[in-house]
Amino acid sequence: MVPGPIELKVPALDDGVVRLRPPEPGDVDAVFAYCNDPDAARFTTIPWPYERDHAVEWIEESTRCWADGVRASFVIVDSSRVAVVGSIGLVRIDHDADVAEVGYLVSREARGRGIASRAVHLVRGWVLRELGFARLELQTDVRNHASQRVAEKAGFTREGEVEPPERCRERSERMVMYSLAPADLDAR
Ligand SMILES: CC(C)(COP(=O)(O)OP(=O)(O)OC[C@H]1O[C@@H](n2cnc3c(N)ncnc32)[C@H](O)[C@@H]1OP(=O)(O)O)[C@@H](O)C(=O)NCCC(=O)NCCS
Repeated sequence: MVPGPIELKVPALDDGVVRLRPPEPGDVDAVFAYCNDPDAARFTTIPWPYERDHAVEWIEESTRCWADGVRASFVIVDSSRVAVVGSIGLVRIDHDADVAEVGYLVSREARGRGIASRAVHLVRGWVLRELGFARLELQTDVRNHASQRVAEKAGFTREGEVEPPERCRERSERMVMYSLAPADLDAR
């Protein structure tokens, strides 16, 4: 079991195409741009309507959460354009259950190029190998076929439909639960 809260050291997560790093104050415009999208709000828990102040608050909160070891958020940098094109993070860290859960979002302009799948792939190894969690979960709305495809491409096992967790109930009626264990990493 991973003792908690943990000291979250910022990992070097970079596959040459995407790089993940904690959000910084200078990311406000980029975060506001990709979150200010009804499509993004439909399948995530980001506030809607999305204001610029939400981006400022998210960056400040992310910084606190890294320090407290309770959540971990990254922006996704497209290395070819050196541009922030989305975010990914551990939306839930459950030390007692030894489980973490990943969530993500990519700007409309950057979709369909494998950015989300690459980012999930980077996070999965960090969570299951370096942090040592026993299970990484990914939950997505039953209607969110793009996100289900991301889960499959990142090697997750589809477990079936589940009731949405409390934080998702406002926007989702049914979710699909995906999971990955350390033993799956080498095989997929
Ligand atoms: C889901 C999301 C993160 C995917 O980002 P992305 O960078 O485009 O993802 P990838 O390019 O890695 O993979 C997307 C896959 O979904 C497929 N796809 C896209 N739209 C689809 C649809 N409507 N039905 C089925 N598959 C679809 C793409 O073809 C691709 O699969 P392929 O590589 O086999 O062709 C992005 O669409 C998004 O931010 N959506 C809004 C927020 C969201 O849903 N977040 C996830 C919450 S769980």
